[in-house]
Amino acid sequence: MTRRKKIYEGKAKILYEGPEPGTLIQYFKDDATAFNAQKKAVLEGKGVINNRISEYVMTRLNTIGVQNHFIKRLNLREQLIREVEIIPLEVVCRNIVAGSLATRFGLPEGQPLPRSIIEFYFKEDKLNDPLVTEEHITCFNWATTQEIDDILAMTLRVNDFLLGMFNAVGITLVDFKIEYGRIWEGEFSRVILADEISPDSCRLWDSTTNEKLDKDRFRRDLGNVIESYTEVARRLGIMKEMPRVIEGGAA
Ligand code: TMP
Repeated sequence: MTRRKKIYEGKAKILYEGPEPGTLIQYFKDDATAFNAQKKAVLEGKGVINNRISEYVMTRLNTIGVQNHFIKRLNLREQLIREVEIIPLEVVCRNIVAGSLATRFGLPEGQPLPRSIIEFYFKEDKLNDPLVTEEHITCFNWATTQEIDDILAMTLRVNDFLLGMFNAVGITLVDFKIEYGRIWEGEFSRVILADEISPDSCRLWDSTTNEKLDKDRFRRDLGNVIESYTEVARRLGIMKEMPRVIEGGAA
């Protein structure tokens, strides 16, 4: 492998300098973490599957006009992306009660919400990614009111699209987390979708059985994590090119 400059290493991905200015290479690791990295494991093949699923989702979102950082997949674990200035927010969109929403309000998991909810969390591991309001976001200059409006509109479009895309293959989209970044053109900036969309960042339930097909299998020690991620890819019709992942032999 050629030596190249590491720009940033997160819990599940590494960003390297890209081949041209304004580009980066996003490398998907097999590392899985939960509860702010208190729980850790290596799940062989996870990075390969998430690279492929995220490629598929970002490409489809691009075709419906949701601009995002994805340029092209380079190999099993890497994709070429546009460099963005990450907005330090985790944007969560929920259709059904689960996870921290269930805990915070003492609600049963699985209760459909009368309308989709968007929440913002400040992306700061040291603080455990606290829930924040638009007041905090503008007060601390994490994003402008215009950027928040753009993020809300784009997130609802992403949600509508993903609901339909997953529903068509027998999967219920319970909730998901996305991140956004700024790209600059002269003195003007625009917000585009960044990061990844994969079973690491979504709650995906089998529509018939409600079986979990996402990272909750890891968080809650339910087993068969890779098998479930693979099943998501298979249903989306994108498993054919990477049969070795199923055998656990992906490098
Ligand atoms: P939550 O119910 O734990 O707040 O999670 C909401 C959604 O966000 C769920 O689909 C999982 C995803 N998520 C991440 O992608 N990264 C995180 O660090 C957390 C806490 C949640």
